[in-house]
Amino acid sequence: MALVSATEMLKKAREGKYAVGAFNTNNLEWTKAILQGAQESNAPVMIQTSMGAAKYMGGYQVCYDLVKDLIDSMGITVPVALHLDHGEYKDAIECIKVGYTSVMFDGSHLPFDENLAKAKEVVSFAHINGVSVECEVGSIGGEEDGIIGAGELADPNECKLMSDTGIDFLAAGIGNIHGAYPTNWAGLSFETLEAIANVTDGKPLVLHGGSGIPLDQIQTAIAHGVSKINVNTECQEVFAAATRKYIEENKDLQGKGFDPRKLLAPGTQAVVDLVKERIEWFGSKDKA
Ligand code: 13P
Repeated sequence: MALVSATEMLKKAREGKYAVGAFNTNNLEWTKAILQGAQESNAPVMIQTSMGAAKYMGGYQVCYDLVKDLIDSMGITVPVALHLDHGEYKDAIECIKVGYTSVMFDGSHLPFDENLAKAKEVVSFAHINGVSVECEVGSIGGEEDGIIGAGELADPNECKLMSDTGIDFLAAGIGNIHGAYPTNWAGLSFETLEAIANVTDGKPLVLHGGSGIPLDQIQTAIAHGVSKINVNTECQEVFAAATRKYIEENKDLQGKGFDPRKLLAPGTQAVVDLVKERIEWFGSKDKA
């Protein structure tokens, strides 16, 4: 199946009260693992690259070709959107030109008026190319590719103005952060989420920092309009843990255990398993 924009899959998710998993990729193995996990779950999926991960992988064209060619060679039939995660303006434009089917323009660090103006420009260029757009209001805590957010709660009025630009889905800070949650974390603010959902006309909402949020909070967030959940750190953690175990058991020293096809296999399988588990959590299993 050809890559698709995320507009339809997230509209359906919002209406059907489930969320699509948006998993960050870093390389060949992760891309295969995410596609395999989604296919085995019969679920729509978003594969996303941060600007830094795309640079690491050799650029946006490489990422696009990789995902597109793997969909063919692996016989993937579930809907897949290739999304730019936390992109700057010029990166969003470049990704649309390269063939990404979805982009996030993250202007949350800019003055709000500028964030809004740039969002409008991205939307008009994206939509003539059939590409979906995510924008962000109220920065999300933690650190991602050097962009550091303070974990604020988004202002619902600003969310409404951003939603009215014609973006397809909205990321808004509701106490979520990227990376591990501190032990004294207050949890998600459902009051803020509800206030945002009330003024954004049924637009799908995006929950960043999906790693480490307890299942009950994930389910409540979905019930309040969250339709896309971003997961990155948890995939990294399970990959590292499985690789560590393989090496600590000296498996790399036995026979040809040092062959990267063997060395990276347990970590890759761990990502497949996590993707499938999160798809179950998010309710998108069998929603392809
Ligand atoms: P985590 O790394 O906390 O899962 O967050 C991922 C994310 O929100 C990517 O934008």
